[in-house]
Amino acid sequence: VSLRPYNTFGLDVQARYFARFTSADELRQLLQLPELQGVEKLILGGGSNLLFTQDFNGVVLKNEIRGLEIISEDGDTNTALVRAGAGESWHGLVEYTLDQNLSGIENLSLIPGTVGAAPLQNIGAYGAELRDTFEHLEALSLASGEVRLFNAAECGFGYRESVFKNTLKNQFVVTAVVLRLHRKAHPSGYEPNVRYGAITETLAELGIEGEPTPHDVSRAVVHIRRSKLPDPAQVGNAGSFFKNPEVSQAKFDQLKSENPEIPGYPVPGGVKVPAAWLIERAGWKGLRRGPGEGTHGVHDRQALVLVHHGGASGNDLRQLAEEIITSVRQQFGIELHPEVNIL
Ligand code: EPU
Repeated sequence: VSLRPYNTFGLDVQARYFARFTSADELRQLLQLPELQGVEKLILGGGSNLLFTQDFNGVVLKNEIRGLEIISEDGDTNTALVRAGAGESWHGLVEYTLDQNLSGIENLSLIPGTVGAAPLQNIGAYGAELRDTFEHLEALSLASGEVRLFNAAECGFGYRESVFKNTLKNQFVVTAVVLRLHRKAHPSGYEPNVRYGAITETLAELGIEGEPTPHDVSRAVVHIRRSKLPDPAQVGNAGSFFKNPEVSQAKFDQLKSENPEIPGYPVPGGVKVPAAWLIERAGWKGLRRGPGEGTHGVHDRQALVLVHHGGASGNDLRQLAEEIITSVRQQFGIELHPEVNIL
């Protein structure tokens, strides 16, 4: 089975087996099939954070569990709990919550991928992260077939991190996610999250005056993302390829003395430096490699994004990523780490 339609890099790799499931029960039945015993398993959501460098000699199980519903309202805190099936599109969930007059995830508009993939790396953008509204998730144990709940603490969220990428890697399949969102209608009581400067600027650019609504903030985020990030339907990519590295204050001071314009954001224990700045400074932004007009390279409007124009292999992209890591290490003494899952 070709996995080309199932990864946003658009890489044409093969999987030995492929199956879809629309409920935890269906997944359980698949896991019991005799031909799948002892076979390696890959649970796929939107395939938007994956780089395949070779064929997959196992079974790809595509999560298509649907469902969007408000499961409870709490008048005291003016919040509502929304439960979403893991196979729903993340942006579809954002739109659903806006239609229901709920706020809390509008800053996370237009992030590619599924609801079930969101907690694995605690998706984040424009001043918000999944964990800010996260209540709990339901996940099926591959070992026992049982579904158990994980609250936020049990998920071990960090910057693009969770327990499901670390100690519990490949042990659970997320089947549903429950978020706690704010019910208060605009304008009374809604506090837009506009800490990220680009949002305020974009609201002004779009002619939105006064107190923005959750819809306005969503529109601004969609506008920023469309202007900077390539649409996977048009150019293969997996969003940010690297995480933004954290350095010590001393290291940052040294970098700053050599590069006065270097941006940095204080975080507990040090300073976070935009990897995009380091990569751009190292001369990679807009690079195209390969025959003709190039098969792959670095996005020309966001240096953190590697792009596949067509005709490249996963190894070509991995090779490019390694060269970028080496050049940033040599030039700045900073180690970049991939954010995408390389298989
Ligand atoms: N910058 C450059 N060159 C570039 C792009 C950015 O020098 O080509 C510098 C600028 O100084 C800019 C700063 O980097 O101010 C930050 O850029 P941006 O706002 O685009 O954000 P980012 O740090 O590069 C992170 C996330 C994105 C998320 C944005 C917005 C990571 C790894 N990436 O990127 O997430 O959308 O912030 O919040 O944390 C993703 O995970 O796939 C993703 C796209």
